[in-house]
Amino acid sequence: MTKFIVVASAKGGVGKTTTAINLGTALLSFGRDVILVDGNLSTPNVGVYLGAPHTETNIHQVIGGEKSIRDSIYLHSHGLKIVPGSVSVHYMDKTRTDQNKLADAILNLAGTSEIVIIDSAAGTSKEAVAAIKAAEEIIIVTTPELAAVTDAYKTVKLAKKYNKKILGVVVTRVRDDGLDMAKEDIEALLEAPVIALIPEDDNVRLSHKMRNPVTYTHPDSSASVGYKKLAAKLLGENYVESIEKQDTMFDYVMKRLGLK
Ligand SMILES: Nc1ncnc2c1ncn2[C@@H]1O[C@H](COP(=O)(O)OP(=O)(O)O)[C@@H](O)[C@H]1O
Ligand SMILES: [Mg+2]
Repeated sequence: MTKFIVVASAKGGVGKTTTAINLGTALLSFGRDVILVDGNLSTPNVGVYLGAPHTETNIHQVIGGEKSIRDSIYLHSHGLKIVPGSVSVHYMDKTRTDQNKLADAILNLAGTSEIVIIDSAAGTSKEAVAAIKAAEEIIIVTTPELAAVTDAYKTVKLAKKYNKKILGVVVTRVRDDGLDMAKEDIEALLEAPVIALIPEDDNVRLSHKMRNPVTYTHPDSSASVGYKKLAAKLLGENYVESIEKQDTMFDYVMKRLGLK
């Protein structure tokens, strides 16, 4: 059965798209079949971040009734399947009339893969709600700042209003410099568990520049490890860091020979 998970937060710029992309690729690394749909209709970024901004078909054509969603799935070179949005201003007005069809369009992916991840728009408008309605489960994303967490609470309220299962909160851009909001305070305010802490990591911006997920460009970076741990947690599996990272190959061989 296909699981539909939306990545959401009322605050913009907190790492929703980065999380949707890298959770997707991290799930791939655990052998799961994943489709990522850009449900951010007004400002779609999935294709832009992954270097596929001008695909022939896109989610806007799907909700406009011009194409089927199953014919709009692209396989990115690193293995993630994506249904991108159109970056054309042509769809700016149309999107408002068609957004109610997003949930039905995405539902047509049932049976095509194990997991469908939906990236969503910021805010609490009909557009953001449309993406939330399209999923059964929701991941709330926030940075560890009071303003972001306060906004994220509105998304928690929406999730509850539409009976969505809250899988938990992903806290991104964690600096651990004494200024971050404490994990316990975030959990208390959002009434949901924090399931991942993703460190502030320059490799994320670098990966966007390289038009690829950071889990692919820099698999051992702190953000990538954070996303892989998140994927493992959601799947109920153990995450083991690569032997190369824990030990040098020499150390590893010495240990296996019982010499260390
Ligand atoms: N862990 C991180 N470390 C550093 N920069 C990050 C991290 N996560 C996201 N960013 C940066 O934050 C900005 C917003 O990220 P994005 O995923 O587009 O957020 P949203 O989808 O919520 O608007 C981007 O410039 C991105 O490179
Ligand atoms: Mg985004």
